[in-house]
Amino acid sequence: MARAFAPGKCILFGEHAVVYGYPAVAVAIDAGVEVSISESSKWTIEGTEFEPGRHPHITHIIRDVFDYNGRPLDIDIKSGLFSAAGLGSSAAISNAMGAALQFHLNPNAGLDRIALARMGHSAEAIAQDGRASPTDTATSALGGCVVVSGELVDGTEHVFDATLETPEGERSWSISKTTIPEDLDAWIVLGFTGVGSPTGKMVADVANLLEVEPSKTSDMEAIGNITNAGLAALSAGNLEAVGIAMNACHERLKSLQVSSPELEHLIAAAGPHSLGAKMTGAGGGGCMVALTRDPRRVAEAIEIAGGKPLISRLGAEGARIIRKT
Ligand code: PMV
Repeated sequence: MARAFAPGKCILFGEHAVVYGYPAVAVAIDAGVEVSISESSKWTIEGTEFEPGRHPHITHIIRDVFDYNGRPLDIDIKSGLFSAAGLGSSAAISNAMGAALQFHLNPNAGLDRIALARMGHSAEAIAQDGRASPTDTATSALGGCVVVSGELVDGTEHVFDATLETPEGERSWSISKTTIPEDLDAWIVLGFTGVGSPTGKMVADVANLLEVEPSKTSDMEAIGNITNAGLAALSAGNLEAVGIAMNACHERLKSLQVSSPELEHLIAAAGPHSLGAKMTGAGGGGCMVALTRDPRRVAEAIEIAGGKPLISRLGAEGARIIRKT
């Protein structure tokens, strides 16, 4: 049997603005997806027949990336992520599947995380009609704190570049990492509203808003500046400044009309016990994130307000093979 784990992600700064070339900062979270594969007499997934059309990410990895023509596989997926919540669960599935299949075919080769990030990105692009930023897959594959931008951001360590042929033409991104101090006395608490986050619709709504209200581009520019300030604060371990930047980023996202009453409710509940709090990901539903020194209290506040909390360190380890113990 081959087993691999890939973490989910949380965008700390720059969602939506990254679509327009500004930087985004994301961290890998502790929760993620574990995929196990073993040879079998027939193709199955989670105990039922594997229907390729229902699992485009996995099918792409098996057929197009690995050109696999070995014995049928029994695929098992265990997810610790809320799905359609902006935590990158489909990217984590792609990455864990890619890592498990690579190990199954070549157990002696080390895991190439850049190749995995590229593989996951192409799987996301296929599943999302050619529109996928590499943020989720790169953060899940590489782990830690990842910066995705139209151009390399000063002070970060360049890892790889990604390009994608989208329906709107070719897009390219620079993917880099930044180091977060190891002894940070803070956690992030994610709060799921229970409402799905429709990324495609939210991105399209923002594009429409910018067309009818061009003055809103100032929010994009402001998010770009806040992201750079937040990134500098995070690298320096200045948690108070990170929290202030998160709050400021949220105000701009609200102005872009991507928050929701449910998100506002959870952010208000977490606020008194947090250094900063904001929506994370596409919005319209999905999750908020709070930075705090008291994660239990914030998790309780989120739960009492009707959300589902998830506590994580900032910048967990990236995708990995799970070896037999
Ligand atoms: O899919 P989510 O919820 O993690 O959000 C993606 C972030 C966006 O900036 C809204 C879209 C994108 O492609 O970067």
